[in-house]
Amino acid sequence: MKKTELKICLGSACHTKGSSEFVEIIQDWLKKNDLEDRIRFTGTLCLGKCREGINVLVDEQIYSSLNNKNIYRFLTELLQKGE
Ligand code: FES
Repeated sequence: MKKTELKICLGSACHTKGSSEFVEIIQDWLKKNDLEDRIRFTGTLCLGKCREGINVLVDEQIYSSLNNKNIYRFLTELLQKGE
């Protein structure tokens, strides 16, 4: 099965908004939900939508405006999408 590619932007604008803190949050969530075989999680350079950060890339699609309030909802939807 092809893995979903999940990449978090680690460019300076997204980093300033806290994207590097999301690295641990997302890694923990993947581990907790036993998804490490299904989702390949890495970082990426600037995705070109700095004002809308924090941005992540799921396969070819950019998702914007992630924050502490909506990150788990985003991850849950990602999980449901892959089922
Ligand atoms: S730094 Fe994240 S989109 Fe530019």
